[in-house]
Amino acid sequence: MRSAGRGGLWIAGALVVACSASSAPLRDLGAGAGVRIGAAVQPALLAADPDQLATFVREFDSLTAENAMKWGPLSSAPGVYDFSEADELVDLAEANGMRVRGHTLVWEVQLPAYVANAPDAETLRGHVEDHIATVMGHYKGRVEQWDVVNEPLFSVGPGLDPNVFFRLLGPDYIADAFHLAHAADPDAILFLNEVLLEDQGARFDAFFDLVQSLLAQDVPVHGVGLQTHIVAGDFDPDAFEANLRALAGLGVQIEITELDVSLRPLFGPRRTLEEQAEIYGRVASACAAVPLCTGITTWGVDDGHTWLDRNEPFAPNAPHDPLLFDRGYAPKPAYDAFAASLPEPSTAVLLAAGLTGLAARRRASVTGRA
Ligand code: XIL
Repeated sequence: MRSAGRGGLWIAGALVVACSASSAPLRDLGAGAGVRIGAAVQPALLAADPDQLATFVREFDSLTAENAMKWGPLSSAPGVYDFSEADELVDLAEANGMRVRGHTLVWEVQLPAYVANAPDAETLRGHVEDHIATVMGHYKGRVEQWDVVNEPLFSVGPGLDPNVFFRLLGPDYIADAFHLAHAADPDAILFLNEVLLEDQGARFDAFFDLVQSLLAQDVPVHGVGLQTHIVAGDFDPDAFEANLRALAGLGVQIEITELDVSLRPLFGPRRTLEEQAEIYGRVASACAAVPLCTGITTWGVDDGHTWLDRNEPFAPNAPHDPLLFDRGYAPKPAYDAFAASLPEPSTAVLLAAGLTGLAARRRASVTGRA
């Protein structure tokens, strides 16, 4: 899969679009604010669609594999790993000055059958140990952040999710995974990633308490990821910013890891592009206002390839249109609002500090890592 031809395409794409960009791309605006701007991508889509590739490398400086680094896509049987698709993405990131967020090591969804059906605790513990060591060992030094555990909470409520790890290993599976990850790559920044943390209330409190108790036990949790899958019309930006500040009070790094803003509520009328734009702007300004918030990743690049529509093929006439670029890769009102909420870096600052130096210093100052 990793052909020289594809590698050449990656680099050529970057050069062509670098010359044609007319205004500051999001990644430059984000660098001025100390916020990486990322997107979740899939190798097959990037390879099939030069416009998606061009848009991605022009605008973003953080890459998350939408699926390619998950356990099931990587491994079909114990000890059998195929890194070819994930490697393509890491090569693409490195060729274009992007960092990589590793997503994700321990999650109930998209598991291989041998893990989902593990017969007992000892077998499952062995699989978790081998998986974390194999995957993090493979990418040691190349993946800056890992979502070590994804979605530990029950899908809607505050309790821990009774997934296969919880059922066989008990609640300590979370702490154990972080210790294993830290041993596998001591320089990686380790995240707990969770969905539905925008509002205040019992669910956010449960997440906060979980992080606090892990930190109190000296578990190496360095960051928290807020997936932030939002529906326009159902978002309270003040609650969201308060949640970011509360988590920052724990001293952990914060990332918005899977942002999308659907125009299609479950009930009621379709929401407008302007409502969506306001939300994107408020998410960006909230992250920029909280020094420990170091990145915003959208879950996809363009409305034509969102997971929300893929998961609902029965509703082809009611698309979610949740991203920053439309189906023709034109920037939407959400793009403008998002960009406007990231402070324009002054030329003098950029020249003095250098874009990457600035971002690196901010990261070092929040993580204690150079
Ligand atoms: C989704 C992908 O986008 C889909 O292509 C796949 O079929 C299922 O997973 N929370 C997560 C992501 O942490 O990994 C999910 O990604 C979306 C919800």
